[in-house]
Amino acid sequence: MSPAQTFTAGRAAHAAIAFRDITKTFNTPNGPFQALGGVSFDVEQGEIFGLLGPNGAGKTTLISILAGLTRATSGAVSVMGHDVVTGYTQSRRLLGVVPQELVFDPFFSLREALRIQSGYFGIRDNADWIDDLLHSLGLADKANANMRQLSGGMKRRAMVAQALVHKPKVIVLDEPTAGVDVELRQTLWQFVSRLNREGSTVLLTTHYLEEAEALCGRIAMIKRGQVVALEKTSVLLSRASSSVLRFKTDGTLPPALAALARVTGRVVQLPAHNAVEVEQILSTVRQAGLVAEDIEIRKADLEDVFLDLMADTSASPINAGTGANGFTAGPPQGETAPSGGRAAPAGASVGVSS
Ligand SMILES: Nc1ncnc2c1ncn2[C@@H]1O[C@H](COP(=O)(O)OP(=O)(O)OP(=O)(O)O)[C@@H](O)[C@H]1O
Ligand SMILES: [Mg+2]
Repeated sequence: MSPAQTFTAGRAAHAAIAFRDITKTFNTPNGPFQALGGVSFDVEQGEIFGLLGPNGAGKTTLISILAGLTRATSGAVSVMGHDVVTGYTQSRRLLGVVPQELVFDPFFSLREALRIQSGYFGIRDNADWIDDLLHSLGLADKANANMRQLSGGMKRRAMVAQALVHKPKVIVLDEPTAGVDVELRQTLWQFVSRLNREGSTVLLTTHYLEEAEALCGRIAMIKRGQVVALEKTSVLLSRASSSVLRFKTDGTLPPALAALARVTGRVVQLPAHNAVEVEQILSTVRQAGLVAEDIEIRKADLEDVFLDLMADTSASPINAGTGANGFTAGPPQGETAPSGGRAAPAGASVGVSS
């Protein structure tokens, strides 16, 4: 892109985050393992952007490269135009990263930890913002507790507070809601939305696809280190089959339905575009001698798109705006379920094979 193109109307001068052709190969005892195979996309300033993918897809590796914790094998990442390697000091100051792994110093109270973290960024009087963070994240009554005394969910929230202590312009959350209860997930998202309204850009990963659907304006899905979808959330949703028939049954589905179905225990979910298809499915079930109970029809959601895409072995990398994509009209052949998601089918394969 030429410098002139960078300043097109309505677009900020720099993307909040720009990933360019990122590859990462780890040396393992079994030989080299490529975790990222050429990832390129931009997160624009002001977006809440979702990075989704199954376990082992490469999300944390990408975020570690962004945060300067891991070096890419090739490619470049910049934060507001600052390269994360050559302009590390600037990019680090602009970024607030909540890592997936819980890391904390057991010797300090929560408030002390936040003060010390402020000091790393040269911020002296940060008491008001620290109070705001503690309050907004539901940690006010734990301010003086030792980090060791916090529950798992509280530790995760403390890590969010720690990442935000320097009021970063670009907030990166790697599964911030894993292990966090429903009420506090909502508190966290309200707070993140507020920071976004106040001007911060947000990149998040989550396995709770309803959260991504509700929060993110755009979503990138990655699979085995490749971007397989990069779209506005509304566009992704419009690619899903229009509705899904859900019912409970005992026994084995006839093969014609089994090939199309997402099965979780007794719960069967099948794409159904119209009333005729619903009738055909239910009649096939009846003819197989099965009883369908608790029948529901629901709108397809992001999880349906995700499962289709992750199951599609032919899905090839796509770029935003190309029109080409990895979606197929056909059924999922097998399923890769998001861990912690709502529908983890029995025997779902998660993670990647090299
Ligand atoms: N230090 C490492 N050495 C070798 N392989 C690694 C290393 N770190 C990550 N990997 C491998 O790279 C792949 C991507 O891992 P990564 O942690 O980025 O996945 P992820 O998308 O964040 O998954 P999850 O949803 O489980 O958090 C995995 O196969 C993982 O085993
Ligand atoms: Mg991860």
